[in-house]
Amino acid sequence: MTWLVTGGAGYIGAHVVRAFEAKGIGTVVVDDLSSGRRAFVPAGVPFVQASILDGPALEAAIAEHGVTGVVHLAGFKYAGVSVQRPLHTYQQNVTGMATLLAAMEHGGVEQIVFSSSAAVFGTPDVDLVTEDTPKHPESPYGESKLIGEWLLADQARATGLKHTSLRYFNVVGSGSTEVFDASPHNLFPLVFDALLEGRTPRINGDDYATPDGTCVRDYIHVADLAAAHVVAAERLAAGEPVEAAYNLGSGDGVSVGQIMRTVADVTGIAFEPEIGPRRIGDPARIVATGERAARDLDWRMRHSLEQMVESAWQARNAAS
Ligand SMILES: NC(=O)c1ccc[n+]([C@@H]2O[C@H](COP(=O)([O-])OP(=O)(O)OC[C@H]3O[C@@H](n4cnc5c(N)ncnc54)[C@H](O)[C@@H]3O)[C@@H](O)[C@H]2O)c1
Repeated sequence: MTWLVTGGAGYIGAHVVRAFEAKGIGTVVVDDLSSGRRAFVPAGVPFVQASILDGPALEAAIAEHGVTGVVHLAGFKYAGVSVQRPLHTYQQNVTGMATLLAAMEHGGVEQIVFSSSAAVFGTPDVDLVTEDTPKHPESPYGESKLIGEWLLADQARATGLKHTSLRYFNVVGSGSTEVFDASPHNLFPLVFDALLEGRTPRINGDDYATPDGTCVRDYIHVADLAAAHVVAAERLAAGEPVEAAYNLGSGDGVSVGQIMRTVADVTGIAFEPEIGPRRIGDPARIVATGERAARDLDWRMRHSLEQMVESAWQARNAAS
């Protein structure tokens, strides 16, 4: 049993690979290194440098490594940038998914776990998002993730494909000092980069209708997230029932202001964040319940906020 991990050289994918390997489940990584790093892939895990748009390369990897299932993380994930680059986003995330599904069908691979996103919900008008909350994506990125979910459902109806989509909320932390979030658009790397370069971290807006005026998000630790992928894969492989989608959220909102205070505590660097204007399109609060994933995927928050910040800071420093 070998699982193909697309995007396995990325921040989350590299954690997923480690979680599978720790359970004794073999993996092979396909990644074009557009945002990932070869060094994030553990030694001994086969690595194929190729795009998911390259059908023949995917077919060859599936055949050569005896792939029986896929965790599909590769994609273009910058929601803000996707507004300026809709064609690129659709090509990577929608054509990429279709190309992957065709290669899976060709190779007789019948199970897939897909990285979806909280972005499928847009700005939900509820305190706690559930799987049934209406989907109103507000960017090409969010749309492409929702289309990815639809593609899986359609392919399942046509071929019997077994699938589930995991909708991540705000993924942070590190489960290994070898892997860190290098995204130029995510809060943790932005704050750490500022501190390491002697700049003051910035909060975008402190006049939201939230307890401290800053945006509230749902932060989850990447190692907890990775563990849920293994359970999802094991259930698919065992033919156990899974839902078409799970929200991987904590049920608990944390404000950007709270993150800043925790960063100051953990790093020992005292700072008062600069307050900038609101960023267009930033909702005041998005928090999800992960109850359905807790029921089926042993999904739990095994890390505190301090551990999320501390592990991310350690990994970021180990890399520099
Ligand atoms: N980080 C988050 O908070 C978050 C939240 C929701 C969903 N997601 C989704 O999780 C997945 C992984 O995100 P991440 O944070 O690890 O990002 P990342 O950029 O670190 O990882 C993405 C990986 O995919 C690879 N890749 C991109 N396009 C490819 C292509 N065409 N062919 C092959 N490889 C390709 C990149 O090189 C990279 O290694 C993405 O699909 C993203 O949309 C992430």
